[in-house]
Amino acid sequence: MKPKILISRSWPDAVQQRLAMRYDVTLNETDTPLTIDQLKAAMTRYDAVCPTVSDKMPAEVLSTPDARVKIVANYGVGFEHIDLEAATAAGIVVTNTPDVLTDTTAELALLLMLMTSRRAGEGERELREGRWVGWRPTHLLGRSLAGKTLGLVGYGRIARATAQRAKAALGMEIAYYSRRRVADEDSATYHDSLESLAAISDVLSLHTPGGAETHHLIDAALLSRMKPSAILINTARGSVVNEAELAKALADGVIAGAGLDVYQGEPKVNPLLLAAPNTVLLPHLGSATLETRTAMGMRTADNLDAFFDGKPPRDRVA
Ligand code: DGY
Repeated sequence: MKPKILISRSWPDAVQQRLAMRYDVTLNETDTPLTIDQLKAAMTRYDAVCPTVSDKMPAEVLSTPDARVKIVANYGVGFEHIDLEAATAAGIVVTNTPDVLTDTTAELALLLMLMTSRRAGEGERELREGRWVGWRPTHLLGRSLAGKTLGLVGYGRIARATAQRAKAALGMEIAYYSRRRVADEDSATYHDSLESLAAISDVLSLHTPGGAETHHLIDAALLSRMKPSAILINTARGSVVNEAELAKALADGVIAGAGLDVYQGEPKVNPLLLAAPNTVLLPHLGSATLETRTAMGMRTADNLDAFFDGKPPRDRVA
């Protein structure tokens, strides 16, 4: 009998077709988020559940009595929406999809850096709203990135891919802060504190996982250490930033701008951020290319195949 698997959202066609060849697949044709009750029911009906970063899998779901699910194969690299301790206690394997979204997310970090530093969001809004009165020497002056310092908070795969692009394409200097200094730094300058990195960065870009350890790492105190001309970029997780304090810092001119792709209460966006000046706000598009979203699905399928072949899945996180 084919293992029964639940795909929580709509995935690229090529992946859904591959999965259908080996598994008894239930698709989510409506592409709407599953409720906690639906996920709890799924725990007793399927051999595998495949959530995405927008499906919370708390202990309440993972410890459902008489669960049939043996593997939660997450479609995405971040897994703070899954209670790993509860999964382990219930004997459930959890996997994610690293590597395949590194380059795409780094591209988006650069997009936000450029859009924010060159005030592209403001310019586009002005033009579309019919407020543009023509070229003039002091219209919407931004700042160049060439020769400026990109400070990376966290120095994992995505941070390093962002650094390489910022250096090669924009001529930026690279600095980073992480809990441990890495051996192969790629001529980046290490800072042993976030405060020291914030003080010298022209662009501060966040690349840490979400979760308790990084919750509101960027708050009013940290923002006050930054240069008034600096911008903040977040392609990591919304919970890393205290959004109300960021909005106030933007309104008060403590920093010059922010480019954000992730939010604490997604898909809701703090109204204070919507009203803040010089923000570029994108709807969590970091990995949103057909190539990458297909690769993420294929990687999830690889993990499922290994598990159901009785082999260790490559991307096991619990
Ligand atoms: C992930 O996979 O965790 C990303 O946030 C999706 O873009």
